[in-house]
Amino acid sequence: MQKGIFITIEGGEGVGKSTNIDAARSFLQENRIDFIQTREPGGTLLAEKVRALLLEDHGEDFDTTAELLLMFAARAQHLNTLIKPALDRGTWILCDRFTDATYAYQGGGRQLDTKLIAQLETLVQHDLRPDLTIILDLDPAAGIERARQRGELDRFEQEQLAFFQRVRASYLEIAEREPQRCAVIDASRSVEDVSASLQTILKERLKRFLP
Ligand code: TMP
Repeated sequence: MQKGIFITIEGGEGVGKSTNIDAARSFLQENRIDFIQTREPGGTLLAEKVRALLLEDHGEDFDTTAELLLMFAARAQHLNTLIKPALDRGTWILCDRFTDATYAYQGGGRQLDTKLIAQLETLVQHDLRPDLTIILDLDPAAGIERARQRGELDRFEQEQLAFFQRVRASYLEIAEREPQRCAVIDASRSVEDVSASLQTILKERLKRFLP
């Protein structure tokens, strides 16, 4: 049986991820693809509890290594109980963030050693990687402004501009290193233009897998 296709959507804060995930979901529905939409950190009951630990402020400094390990703990649970079984039975996965976010936020933002991240990636995922990753790219100053307008900020959203500039640079480095897997979309344009670009990329990159 044909394995499912694993699609991830990435980007900094306020880049319009939710709107574009909706657009990707419509594309998959129109093409009659059997898929599951999920997110990281989170995606299962246990992993969502870890998400709450990661995003809330607990009144003490969050150790960066503890943060990194919790990201991968949530990922192991999500991957082994939801993502892998789905892909194995031919169901596609549409995931809001995955390990590229760890390279961007913990590697770029927090400046943790990317070799350490790569080791954890191998430990948790073995050779499993997304088939297609869409990176929504936007100047962080504009993104943070959008995130602020949405309301209360989580622990990551409260970071400084320089942190988000490093996050953006890391995402762009990943895209440059892996052009086969990644596609970057300029998210500074209108919602309609960005969604149209997304649809074009999905059509082109996924055409050999569509029924
Ligand atoms: P969300 O706001 O897009 O749902 O993501 C939650 C936050 O978690 C977001 O600020 C990015 C952060 N994050 C990491 O720092 N590392 C990761 O590996 C993932 C998946 C998310």
